Amino acid sequence: MTSWIEHPLCGPHDTMPTAFWGPERLDSAAFVDLVSLLSPDVEIAAILVALKDIKQVVDVGGGTGLITQAIAKGAEVTLIDPDPAQRALVPGGIVVADGRAEAVPLPDQATEAAIATWVLQYCDDPRKAIDELARIARHRVVIVQAAPGNDLVELYNREAAVAGLPAAHHGWLLAEAATRLEAAGFTVTLQRLAIPVRAPAGGAEELANTLARLHFAGHPKLADMIAVTTPLIGRTLAIGSGLSDDGVLLSARR
Ligand SMILES: C[S@@+](CC[C@H](N)C(=O)[O-])C[C@H]1O[C@@H](n2cnc3c(N)ncnc32)[C@H](O)[C@@H]1O
Repeated sequence: MTSWIEHPLCGPHDTMPTAFWGPERLDSAAFVDLVSLLSPDVEIAAILVALKDIKQVVDVGGGTGLITQAIAKGAEVTLIDPDPAQRALVPGGIVVADGRAEAVPLPDQATEAAIATWVLQYCDDPRKAIDELARIARHRVVIVQAAPGNDLVELYNREAAVAGLPAAHHGWLLAEAATRLEAAGFTVTLQRLAIPVRAPAGGAEELANTLARLHFAGHPKLADMIAVTTPLIGRTLAIGSGLSDDGVLLSARR
């Protein structure tokens, strides 16, 4: 692959930014609400395949341990996350530490594998975070970010427009990650993951509320964001097609 930015899973190409738009913010309570609507089975199964035969993993930005606990059934896992509210929800039996992806508190080549799922958009410097994953992992790096057509990114972008902020583009993050990991000696592949979002009991307005709080809790224009996204979500639910939080799994091996 000569240019990862042209890869179909790094699209859409007509809206590719020239620089990082973030960091985005994440509200822990809203994240817990959103996670209850997601079905992570496909994502977890693909991550376990990417980590086959690996016995030591560091989960950077592991959050509440949703993915980590599945990996911990077959490997020794350390979860690193800067948010004490997220770390407090990690189930027992997993080593948990405070830290940021841009400066992982571990020595070079400290682990067989490092993973970071849905994390790079929250980093002050995602390029530094990618380089840190390559620095600490001897054999594998796994990253998950949103796929082209992911509805939750589209809804984030509608909210960001209300706030006067630039649009997110996870393909930019994936292309940066693939390029930098390849330069660090890894062989990189990308794979699409189907991740449906269940409609909450409160319908479109409840989901619009959860997403706006997730991304922009406390923002003075929160109600305007919800007013913009509620009808968009409502139309998708009305035609019977659920929303997608589809991802791309980047698997890097050396
Ligand atoms: C959307 S959650 C994903 C959690 C988990 N990886 C998963 O897939 O379920 C994003 C996580 O990134 C963490 N985070 C935010 N900024 C970070 C940073 N600079 N370095 C590492 N993690 C960060 C948040 O605290 C949160 O737990």
